[in-house]
Amino acid sequence: MDWKTIRKTAKPGEPAPNLIDYAAARASFSWEAARAELERLPGTGLNIAYEATDRHVYAGRGEIVALIWLGKNGERQTFTYAELARLSNRFANLLERLGIGKGDRVCALAGRIPELYATALGTLKAGAVFCPLFSAFGPEPVRIRLSKSQARVLVTTKALYERKVRHQRDDLPDLAQVLLTDGDGLVEPGVSSFHALLAEESDHRSPPRTLPEDMALLHFTSGTTGAPKGAIHVHDAVVAHRLTGRLALDLRPADIYWCTADPGWVTGVSYGIVAPLVNGATMVVDEAEFDARRWYAILEQERVNVWYTAPTAIRMLMKAGAEAARWHDLSALRFAASVGEPLNPEGVLWGRDVLSQPFHDTWWQTETGAIMIANYRSQAIRPGSMGQPLPGVEAAIIRRRPDGGIDRLSPGEEGELALRAGWPSMFRGYLNDEERYRRCFADGWYLSGDLATQDTDGYFWFVGRSDDVIKTSGHMVGPFEVENVLMEHLAVAEAGMIGKPDAFAGQIVKAFVALKPGYTASDALRKELLGFARTRLGPAVAPRELEFVADLPKTRSGKIMRRLLRARELGLPPGDLSTLENDETKED
Ligand code: WT7
Repeated sequence: MDWKTIRKTAKPGEPAPNLIDYAAARASFSWEAARAELERLPGTGLNIAYEATDRHVYAGRGEIVALIWLGKNGERQTFTYAELARLSNRFANLLERLGIGKGDRVCALAGRIPELYATALGTLKAGAVFCPLFSAFGPEPVRIRLSKSQARVLVTTKALYERKVRHQRDDLPDLAQVLLTDGDGLVEPGVSSFHALLAEESDHRSPPRTLPEDMALLHFTSGTTGAPKGAIHVHDAVVAHRLTGRLALDLRPADIYWCTADPGWVTGVSYGIVAPLVNGATMVVDEAEFDARRWYAILEQERVNVWYTAPTAIRMLMKAGAEAARWHDLSALRFAASVGEPLNPEGVLWGRDVLSQPFHDTWWQTETGAIMIANYRSQAIRPGSMGQPLPGVEAAIIRRRPDGGIDRLSPGEEGELALRAGWPSMFRGYLNDEERYRRCFADGWYLSGDLATQDTDGYFWFVGRSDDVIKTSGHMVGPFEVENVLMEHLAVAEAGMIGKPDAFAGQIVKAFVALKPGYTASDALRKELLGFARTRLGPAVAPRELEFVADLPKTRSGKIMRRLLRARELGLPPGDLSTLENDETKED
């Protein structure tokens, strides 16, 4: 294989990398030792939010800033570790008063507002389960997730509640309380003011009583078939959050750290809340949406040391041009990393040339809970490669055998990326779907559904997905939700969704629709269907393009062959599918 490597030289005065000798760290690693760095609660307890806040306060670091919040209208608010500890205590006390406790799900549907952080941490302290929902989801994805999670409490804003939840409340019998972050007093039965209720609570609370294997986080993710699945994570995951923050992101106490991912998704929770706080860093949260000039100003003014972002954002920065970066002093930046989609070599090199920091690609999934494969600060980068497994993580390229076993493949051979089961942040199940969980494992390995290769030096290279899930602007979208909503329209007989390559979003959602007899394809109908889907699914999930077809290609058993739709889109002859992924998915 032909690759170039980027070697790096530390700037004068920069601290040495946290991971200095990769091979030695792997050889001597044990999860037990990593676990021992955390503070166990009375008995054998462990709690993510305690590790993230109170532990620092008790160690005398309570006055360090934990959160710098930048509002979209120019506000700047800071919260120390002690303040976050008190706020989350209050929220935990409030939950307890509402009768919410161990294992109950608390959902948040909000943008990047300070209340979200108090909610996440307070929920964990109360022993309940935090489940984030992306605020750009429409009513349909929100309802499915609230319903499947059996959420008892929802924290949201007035506008989001009115647009996405209120009219569906009858379909959500488990949802006892909605707390509005911008409502005053009692709003209506079952809807209260977050702040009014919080004001009645005490700052104090005895240490949480959770155990390492208690459910802590629930993250929804999509597959090819069926509704989204809720991946269960437990408090023990914090062992991996802390370790990967330190080794893969090079985080150290009092670093200024910025993760641009939204906390409506797993990255924004694992690395936008837990990993930075557990490592004692100061995290920057920007409420506003992407804007190149604003982003450079934040990197400069907040003197960000460690930056974790995504290829979609990097592509947009590249589009804005090097000129936009020119007058900004980015000298504080010590480490830049990327996740979520393929990061091409151009992106890595652009970081080096424009930010003076190459982007270090990292790979993981909702199911893995934490970074599993990374390019490390101490090592040369192979641009285009996802890097090497974390100490404590064993990764391999495998092929599934028909008998249910697996074969390990040789370097250079393309196969499915698998991880040996057993790291602390590995998901412990899909909520109420034991069968689907079981199917993710073979011979003691977790099968990721990603296709990749490994080179002779152990670096992993991403190839594609083995199923029909796509990434649009870094967000995962499965065909099920999109196709189902389109089929609810009276004119639609069948619908199929694919990811269409896009210069900025990576892929955009494109739908193919066959109409029912009596309906004719027209521009007006296309617009109507796109609008229909957008109203229900929201801008994060809805198709951006829609094409009418006479009928959809299907297998003999009636499954839509989306790879043929992709071939058609890419202008490939249907016979030449060499660049496309497999037909059969792990869920088929
Ligand atoms: C899927 C997981 C991103 C972690 C949290 C979101 C794709 C992830 C990379 C990468 C190419 C990547 C994979 C993976 N992906 N990182 N560095 N290069 N593809 O997790 O939403 O469950 O997405 O994102 O296909 O399976 P997620």
